[in-house]
Amino acid sequence: SITIDSTAMGPEIADTMYGVFLEDINSAADGGLYPELVRNRSFEFNPADSGSYTGLTAWRETATGGATGSLRVVDDAERLNERNRNYLRLDLDGGAGAGAGYGVSNAGFHTGMALTAGDSYTFSVWARTDNPAGTPLTVSLRTAAGQALAADLAIDVRGDEWTKYSATVTPTTSATDGSLVVTAGGGGTVRLDMVSLFPEETYKNRPNGLRKDLAEKIAALNPGFLRFPGGCLVNTGSHEAYEAPNWPRKRSYQWKDTVGPIEERATNHNFWGYNQTYGLGYFEYFQFAEDIGAMPLPVVPALVTGCGENRATDDPILLQRHIQDTLDLIEFANGPVDSTWGRLRAEMGHPEPFGLTHVQVGNEENLPDAFFERFVRFRAAIEAEYPDITVVSNSGPAPDGATFDRLWALNRQAGVELVDEHYYVSPQWMLENNARYDSYDREGPEVFLGEYASRGNTHYNALAEAAYMTGLERNADVVRLASYAPVLAHEDSVQWSPDLIWFDNSTSWSTPNYEVQRLFGNNVGDAVVPSRATGTPALTEPITGAVGLSTWATSAAYDDVRVVSADGTELFADDFSQGAARWTHAVPAGTWTVQDGAYLQTDTAATNTLVTAGDPAWRDYDLHLKATKRSG
Ligand code: AHR
Repeated sequence: SITIDSTAMGPEIADTMYGVFLEDINSAADGGLYPELVRNRSFEFNPADSGSYTGLTAWRETATGGATGSLRVVDDAERLNERNRNYLRLDLDGGAGAGAGYGVSNAGFHTGMALTAGDSYTFSVWARTDNPAGTPLTVSLRTAAGQALAADLAIDVRGDEWTKYSATVTPTTSATDGSLVVTAGGGGTVRLDMVSLFPEETYKNRPNGLRKDLAEKIAALNPGFLRFPGGCLVNTGSHEAYEAPNWPRKRSYQWKDTVGPIEERATNHNFWGYNQTYGLGYFEYFQFAEDIGAMPLPVVPALVTGCGENRATDDPILLQRHIQDTLDLIEFANGPVDSTWGRLRAEMGHPEPFGLTHVQVGNEENLPDAFFERFVRFRAAIEAEYPDITVVSNSGPAPDGATFDRLWALNRQAGVELVDEHYYVSPQWMLENNARYDSYDREGPEVFLGEYASRGNTHYNALAEAAYMTGLERNADVVRLASYAPVLAHEDSVQWSPDLIWFDNSTSWSTPNYEVQRLFGNNVGDAVVPSRATGTPALTEPITGAVGLSTWATSAAYDDVRVVSADGTELFADDFSQGAARWTHAVPAGTWTVQDGAYLQTDTAATNTLVTAGDPAWRDYDLHLKATKRSG
């Protein structure tokens, strides 16, 4: 029974309580929310990013009608601009008949371009030619087997100055293995850059906008805030600026790299192992926040790296530059149109301010003292110029530990307003720690639970998260904001699981965890009404949804394998990224009953522990195997 005390009123719950955190992990941005269909559109991929990358990653040479030529990616004085240095040079032999062409094809991200009959796509390219007669470009959409999906486009490139050409193409046939083919006729040298195929329909039809189904699923959460752009993406990598000709490739996410015309945004290598174009940059994030009615909450690097890197940059000039960049970011978001950065915002199409109120400095830091020395300098500079901006700090890897304790002590001492906590835990932990915030100091900093999840996308995980969120809400006077993480995952590019929304190139689907977030986000109360429950049943429901027992040949095929008992106790967990498997609990003898025909077998000869089906020689347990199949 639940007793409600309608005479007392608990803490108020802010409208911004439940939000979302977006980071380009699991191809969330490039290849996901940012719907550019051409991968490596500006030929900037480089072996320095990843051993398998070249300027021609995702591109293939192609020819029609017997045309011949040669191609290479070059970085020379003819480049499009200093931030987009590589381009594709085609040297055409000429001499083949009319309609013949030599050039390239691009198969897009992962499994090929998903193209829908009747939908329109904008093809665009920056091009120049030294052929005085001009160069005819033929643009086709084809399946992997070469079947045409739309009438070809014909583009006439004229002159040896970089010029942007664009045209609309509407497929008459749908495909999920589409590719874009661009060939050039005649002779001479033609140069191409920023080859793009972009859906005309985007979320709210913004130019350079967002993939509609994914943006709509995020919007349906009714988020109170949008934290972006990371995560480890922000605080790892070099803190050097992107300045030609000395441009570090693995840079932390720095907002100035991501604004202005898209052809002037430099490609960067992402902490999660792939390249990002910054097509989805700070302007687009601010605009998305506005479109979904969410408070924007950007995160800037504090010149200390976390996420396993653990380095602090001591260069005072660099530190000062980052502090100034943060002040400039606030001007970009809120400044008048005659200010330097406010003008850029206006030129990008948004003269009105974005209404920025919070900036987070640093993410999940591992070096508490080094981070804090820098944090207080950022905060002092921001507060001196923008006293109304809340500067958010963090607590390192939570939910506990020496770093966490030290950072909380430093945050408390310095009178920080809001501290970001992150934790990824078992559902059992969530059930056992519902009261975590009941005892938090009401005089100290407030909590921004910027990243949390229980490890799994099952119904049971979702219920555990819902139960935990009642504890957050009960403590809404100290827990001000909370966001599940990560939000998006392309099923062919998984660096982190579980995630809230899954997708492939053409479709997307939500999870039970998503439904919990949607429920809470769309039903934010005004205030907590004190209540007491008695006779609460113990949580003894078995976990359902066992997978893979009969097909699991080798643990190397799976990520994140867990074995749990019927009462939710995790017995074995292995994400296979952290070395050998480990038993997290001893298996008690003879206390388990058979269910679903699952048997547990320990293979002492192998590094990993195997779970197999059906061998009665082994002791029976009431177990469920949960595993995510490794992509590829
Ligand atoms: O959400 C995935 C990662 O988890 C984030 O990048 C990082 O902040 C945390 O460790």
